[in-house]
Amino acid sequence: MCGIVGIVGGRDVAPVILEALKRLEYRGYDSAGIATLDDGQLTRRRAEGKLFNLETALTAQPLHGGLGIGHTRWATHGAPTENNAHPHATDRAAIVHNGIIENFRELRQMLLEKGFSFSTDTDSEIIAHLVTDHLNRGKDPRRAAADALRELEGAFAVAIIFSGEEDLMIGARRGSPLAVGYGDGSMYLGSDAFALAPMTNRVSFLEEGDRVELTREGAVIYDAAGRNVERTVKITDVSAALVDKGNHRHFMAKEIFEQPEVIGHTLSEYLDLVNEKLHLPDLPVDLATVPRITIIACGTAFYAGLVAKYWFEKLARISVEVDIASEFRYREAALPEGGLAIFISQSGETADTLAALHYCKSRGQKTLSVVNVVESSIARASDVILPTFAGPEIGVASTKAFTCQLSTLAILAVRAAIARGQIDAEEERRIVHTLIETPRHVAEALGADGAIQDLSVDLAKARDVLYLGRGHNYPVALEGALKLKEISYIHAEGYAAGELKHGPIALIDENVPVIVIAPMDPLYEKTVSNMQEVIARGGKVLLIADKAGIEHAGEGLWESVEIPAVDPLIAPIINAIPVQLLAYHTAVSKGTDVDQPRNLAKSVTVE
Ligand code: F6R
Repeated sequence: MCGIVGIVGGRDVAPVILEALKRLEYRGYDSAGIATLDDGQLTRRRAEGKLFNLETALTAQPLHGGLGIGHTRWATHGAPTENNAHPHATDRAAIVHNGIIENFRELRQMLLEKGFSFSTDTDSEIIAHLVTDHLNRGKDPRRAAADALRELEGAFAVAIIFSGEEDLMIGARRGSPLAVGYGDGSMYLGSDAFALAPMTNRVSFLEEGDRVELTREGAVIYDAAGRNVERTVKITDVSAALVDKGNHRHFMAKEIFEQPEVIGHTLSEYLDLVNEKLHLPDLPVDLATVPRITIIACGTAFYAGLVAKYWFEKLARISVEVDIASEFRYREAALPEGGLAIFISQSGETADTLAALHYCKSRGQKTLSVVNVVESSIARASDVILPTFAGPEIGVASTKAFTCQLSTLAILAVRAAIARGQIDAEEERRIVHTLIETPRHVAEALGADGAIQDLSVDLAKARDVLYLGRGHNYPVALEGALKLKEISYIHAEGYAAGELKHGPIALIDENVPVIVIAPMDPLYEKTVSNMQEVIARGGKVLLIADKAGIEHAGEGLWESVEIPAVDPLIAPIINAIPVQLLAYHTAVSKGTDVDQPRNLAKSVTVE
């Protein structure tokens, strides 16, 4: 998703903006640009593709000036070309924008009629012209920006600079996040605190509808009603160190291999190992009596929610609904009085999940979020948060955030089971021990890396792949398929194993690998008989199972990957590891852009 950086004050700010943009690369983008004010004149450089291209353009023709804005663009309206890259500018104003201007067609028509001409296909360009239109009417820049912003409809964040104004930048937030950074004699704007970390750790987050006027001296903030407001300045603990790949070839590999550590970190936040008990913050509802839980998320986080449904229902006997946020927000769901709505999000900025959260709040639900970015919009809007401690996830494909979400949700489900009298103190103690073994089992599961790398060479030749699982392994199958398709571009589908003969079995032939996730558990026999149906039809089966599961699988497997035998409670976390590695190595075999797959963004702040 687009990233914004702005700096007021300093010497030549362009190289600093470029470095900050690099910290926003993880959000996904396909072009980039920077504009500065050089001797009162707006100048800019833009480039299609990766930041390296922008860096090359800046080396050939450096930008000067102590005030500037930068942008990484993830295309929405208009192709990812240099011409469509931000900043967009007239001779009077330059802007960077994240989000979508919903009424851009009407505004563009109005501006065309006034004689403005447009040089890009973007919705964003109209902001530069609209501001210029207000300036042309004799308004000062602050007023021109405020009036222009008022005319825009949609969800966005914007930064604006003006020719001749060496000490002024306007920022605005409506739907998309924007942080204000406080330096000494310089001020900053950024899509998140992570972008600003090398420059400052003093940050305030604009609230919905806020507009900020930045000068070297500080920030003046106005709320949606135009009132002058204060927003708390926090000291963030976001690390200033540039996250690197360590000794891995890709961030995704690094993040997959970080899982024992970060799952351990996450679990230890919520387990009191001394007293062998769970250790969760106070919740906004009584889990003993809550009538229903509604879980809402997108993509991989949604699959974490699906696993959690199995846990909540089985362990705590609570009725749970799980919904994709983009569907939930428009279907006017009926929610029970006193219900709990749980939101799961790595970034904490996913637009649909945030909108669903606002809907639930307006319908009287208590809200709890499982988020990785604790200063995110979803975190700040929730009654209570259970942070995951995965650390920054840079690879676009979510891996460590998923397993940390599962770890957190497992503990929450156990807490609900205790509250409802389904689990006693002794069982709690046993579960604490089971949970705390998870990092070790994850490390064991990572031991299959070499074997998975070998067989992924063959998998990379497939055009279609099916994933099958039952019970809590059904969401793991869905996650495996999502991971494979998003980074290797191989078409893949996840199915509940029992659903196979209701249609998908027609797809089976010797060219369609079928990946079956079936460790030895109470549903093993059922899944294995579905697997045998595939083998009987010439299907090429890769079984992911523990030793006993592989031994009892019968004849005809194409391949198998052994995972450790673990307690069913933590099995989904362990079983996620081989499907992540399979997707990773298959993508590497195919030579795709693993960390930034085509068309995808890390943080989806538009609906
Ligand atoms: C897939 C993936 C996405 C995200 C989804 C939600 O690997 O990363 O499906 O899970 O976009 O994002 P968050 O968790 O940031 O709300």
